[in-house]
Amino acid sequence: MIVALCSLNGAPGVTSLAIAIAACWPSTPMTVPVLVEADASGGDLSTWHGLNSAEAGLVSLAAASRAPIPVQESAAADAWAEAGVVGVPAADTALRHAVEVPGGLRVVPAPADPLEAGRAVAMIAHNPSLLRSGRVTVIDVGRAVPGSAGAALLGHADIIIVLTAPGDMGHAARLRACAPVLASLRDDGIRVGLAITGSCRHSDQEVTQIAADLPVWARIPHDPVGAALVRGEHRPPIRTRDRVAAWWSQRRDPDSLEWVPLIKAAKSLAELCDDFSGIGAAARPHGVLEGSVA
Ligand SMILES: Nc1ncnc2c1ncn2[C@@H]1O[C@H](COP(=O)(O)OP(=O)(O)OP(=O)(O)O)[C@@H](O)[C@H]1O
Ligand SMILES: [Mg+2]
Repeated sequence: MIVALCSLNGAPGVTSLAIAIAACWPSTPMTVPVLVEADASGGDLSTWHGLNSAEAGLVSLAAASRAPIPVQESAAADAWAEAGVVGVPAADTALRHAVEVPGGLRVVPAPADPLEAGRAVAMIAHNPSLLRSGRVTVIDVGRAVPGSAGAALLGHADIIIVLTAPGDMGHAARLRACAPVLASLRDDGIRVGLAITGSCRHSDQEVTQIAADLPVWARIPHDPVGAALVRGEHRPPIRTRDRVAAWWSQRRDPDSLEWVPLIKAAKSLAELCDDFSGIGAAARPHGVLEGSVA
C-alpha cells in the first residue's frame, strides 16, 4: 500500500508528519513501513539524521529502474543482512534502498540537491512499481506542483493525505483551487483526505465545504518538541501540560512517546489509513493517472 503525503503551498510540516506516520504505523512482521522522501525540491532527511544519501536513497532507488541492483550487491542490503534482516523479497525494491534511522524507521532519503532529487522523482514517476511493496510505503511528495513528477506520483498512491493550513488565507485559497483535481483522484478510487495544521477557527465541515467535499482526517497540533523529535533532536518538554503528560505516560511505559502531541496525532492518522487498507484501498486496481494534481 502506498500512502502519499503532500502540501499545496508553504512548508506546513509534510516531512515531519510523514516520518511520524511511518514511525507509528501499526506494525506487524508483514507490514514494515518504508518512508520514501520523493520531494523533487530536495530532501531534508539526510541532513536531519546525518545520512549519506549517496550510499542508499532516492537516487539509487531511481537507478534501479534502469539497472536493477541485485540484493547482495547493494550497500543497503549488506547493512540489512548485518542487522539480521534476510530474504528481502525481490518486489521490495524500496526497502532495499532504505537506510535505518535511530528508532528503527527505514527511510529512502532524497538528496538535498533539487536537480538530483527532481531527476530521481521523475524516473520513479515513470516506474512507480519501485515504490510498491508487500509492505507499506509512505511517500513524502513535498509540494504537489501541477504537472510535476511529484504530482504524478500521487496518482499511484492508494491514500493521499494533503497537509494544509486553511486558517491562513493563502493556504485556503490554494486549497479551494486545488481541491477539484484532488477530488478527481478520489473519483479514480484513491482515498484523499486533509490534515489541518496551524490555527484554524473553521470547523471540519466548513473546511470540507471549500475543499470539494474532501474529508478532514486529522488536526495536527503545533508541537515543537514532537517536530524536533522527528528531526532527530531531543528536546525536553517545556510547556507544563507537556511535562505533566510526559511524566504520566512514562510512569506507565518509559518508552512510550504517545504523550508527544505530534506522535499521538500521527498514530491516529496511521491507524485510520491502516483501517482503509482493509476496506478497499490496497485492492485498488492501479491504472496510471499521469498528469497534474494540484
Ligand atoms: N507539528 C509541528 N509543530 C511545530 N513545528 C513543526 C511541526 N511540523 C513541522 N514543524 C517544523 O516546521 C518546519 C518545516 O517542517 P517540514 O520540513 O516537516 O515541512 P515540509 O512541509 O516538509 O517543508 P518543505 O516543503 O520545505 O519540505 C521544520 O522546522 C519542522 O521542525
Ligand atoms: Mg519536506
